[in-house]
Amino acid sequence: MIGIDELDVKGRRVFVRADLNVPLDGETITDDGRIRASVPTIRKLIERGAKVVVAAHLGRPKGSPTPKYSLAPVSRRLAELLGEDVAFATDVVGDSARATVDALQDGQVALLENLRFEPGEESKDDSVRGEFADRLAALAELYVGDGFGAVHRKHASVYDLPKRLPHAAGDLVLAEVEVLKRLTEDPARPYVVILGGAKVSDKLGVIANLLSKVDRLLVGGGMAYTFLKAQGHEVGKSLLQEDQLDQVRGFLDEAAARGVELVLPVDVLAATHFAADAPHEVVASTAIPADREGLDIGPKTRELFASKLADARTVFWNGPMGVFEFEAFSGGTRAVAEALIGSEAFTVVGGGDSAAAVRLLGLPEDGFSHISTGGGASLEYLEGKTLPGLAALEE
Ligand code: 3PG
Repeated sequence: MIGIDELDVKGRRVFVRADLNVPLDGETITDDGRIRASVPTIRKLIERGAKVVVAAHLGRPKGSPTPKYSLAPVSRRLAELLGEDVAFATDVVGDSARATVDALQDGQVALLENLRFEPGEESKDDSVRGEFADRLAALAELYVGDGFGAVHRKHASVYDLPKRLPHAAGDLVLAEVEVLKRLTEDPARPYVVILGGAKVSDKLGVIANLLSKVDRLLVGGGMAYTFLKAQGHEVGKSLLQEDQLDQVRGFLDEAAARGVELVLPVDVLAATHFAADAPHEVVASTAIPADREGLDIGPKTRELFASKLADARTVFWNGPMGVFEFEAFSGGTRAVAEALIGSEAFTVVGGGDSAAAVRLLGLPEDGFSHISTGGGASLEYLEGKTLPGLAALEE
């Protein structure tokens, strides 16, 4: 995989596939982390005199133009962060895109409308994706893959387009891959992984793969209740994936057989219902009342998890410990984040909600060794899967 320093970009139209999939509240961007992470590669290309054509997706609009998923607010924020005008095309490969790209001078930037407004982007049919990739290829002369958060998607702009143009990896992708390599190739030990988030089903592959690699696995968040239930405890109205119980029992057995410490919450904040102001109390995780639901890990668990992180030399964290969007249930996620910030270990926050939580809770981003922009992408990398967007860049 070559980097952009090895491409001669001056005066050439360079298609940059970025991941600008940010959370929006109406037209307000609530966390611009992914846009900020995309700026260095774009800036470097501007400085080197490229005509930069940025493309990205936002949300899951399912193949047709959907105003609430327009990249227009992202275009404005990108312009602010770059301190440069960003010409915004109101379509992806239509008249507006062609005219906008044709008007670019050396060192100028355009952003195309949401790639997922076109059905060809995500099509499962290779020829449909290929036709769309041909139309994207007509807009540029070179391709830079920098949308790390989307490299696990076999989409036209991620997988098919780099096969059609001379290509390189952007600085963000190179940095993310270097970090993930460090986690997979001989990590410094003890190596501790903390997993949270709502669904255990999203994490099956990564747990299966990590059990042979880590020294400790700490499980919190909504997925912990399926583990507690698998151990025979009642979890009241807490999130539970009954259909995953057998699989989780298998993980508990495998962890024991391999000598991996699998650490579960010992107490939780049990609430009457799912609401920011729901009455709640701390209960033992083995005694959750039938009419309560766990919305965060409790104080003893926070201490327990911090103690399990104290001597770690490598830590990967993906998924919040509770409903951090509600202040009353954000303490567990904050405690884990603070334990990482205080740690001497190589600490990696794996994208998605945990990265957003770090920023929304006002925690210092530089307290971590690396905050990934890819949730699903970093998990699939750690699962040992081949990521289509990286494979295409390696060819
Ligand atoms: C993400 O948000 O993880 C990436 O932007 C990929 O988005 P997707 O899960 O909708 O493909």
